[in-house]
Amino acid sequence: MNSEDICKNVIELATNTGEFIREQRKHFSSDKIEVKGQHDFVSYVDKEAEKLLVHGLSKILPDAGFIAEEGTGEPKPNGYNWIVDPLDGTTNFIHGLPPYSISIALTNKNTVLLGVIYEVTLDECFFAWGNGKAYLNGNEIRVSNTKNVNDSLIATGFPYYDYSIIGPFLKSMEHFMRNSHGLRRLGSAATDLAYVACGRFEAFYEHSLQPWDVAAGAFIVEQAGGRVSDFSGGNNYMLGGEIVATNGNIYNDFQSIVSDYLVKDKQ
Ligand code: 2AM
Ligand code: CA
Repeated sequence: MNSEDICKNVIELATNTGEFIREQRKHFSSDKIEVKGQHDFVSYVDKEAEKLLVHGLSKILPDAGFIAEEGTGEPKPNGYNWIVDPLDGTTNFIHGLPPYSISIALTNKNTVLLGVIYEVTLDECFFAWGNGKAYLNGNEIRVSNTKNVNDSLIATGFPYYDYSIIGPFLKSMEHFMRNSHGLRRLGSAATDLAYVACGRFEAFYEHSLQPWDVAAGAFIVEQAGGRVSDFSGGNNYMLGGEIVATNGNIYNDFQSIVSDYLVKDKQ
């Protein structure tokens, strides 16, 4: 199977699993929430969705390993791996607030081959398989054409467990409040990245994220013509826990502002 065929199988699996999540939401109550850590929640829906995904992905590529948020499966150090977040935006889900997404990437020795993000509440599937294009429900998408940070709508995520740089982070937010069309905080990093890819946002930045939050989304942004890096402009955004993702035009200006506030030796 080539990447395009694998991607189509993943889209079908993500869409079906999204249907399961939507059904569960109809009769979800707060007694079904477990607390993983401070402000870190999980429910049987995250875990069951992950099982459905891991089962389905194992059929698509029997030899691939897994790096999945709820811990299902084992990684394969030197082969293919699925990077899976069965429910990105769990806090939104448990409050009944959109958006929340399934995020799936396939990697081979740390190179991403394809990405699929299924935003459950709007039934929107964002995907790319590495042909230099990205898609939303089958239609091609591109990052926005906006040329200035001042004319940009910017997404971020608030710190919820690592408060070590909250001071500089709030200052960076103030900068963008004063010098952009506005800041948004959706609560699902995968969805934020998908929205950069289709031009709804010009840029997204957040720290303390995990590979399953960003692997698919960063790939889809790049395939849609955008640019992704860590806060310093390097490429350690998958494991390094910090990401800047923008349309190509504003990348230099945006990354440089983020780095002025948030890269330690520049503060
Ligand atoms: P998750 O729902 O899959 O855990 C947004 O800031 C990102 O941080 C989301 O992608 C979300 O992924 C993660 N996150 C985990 N717990 C969070 C919380 N309590 N509040 C906000 N984001 C959280
Ligand atoms: Ca999750």
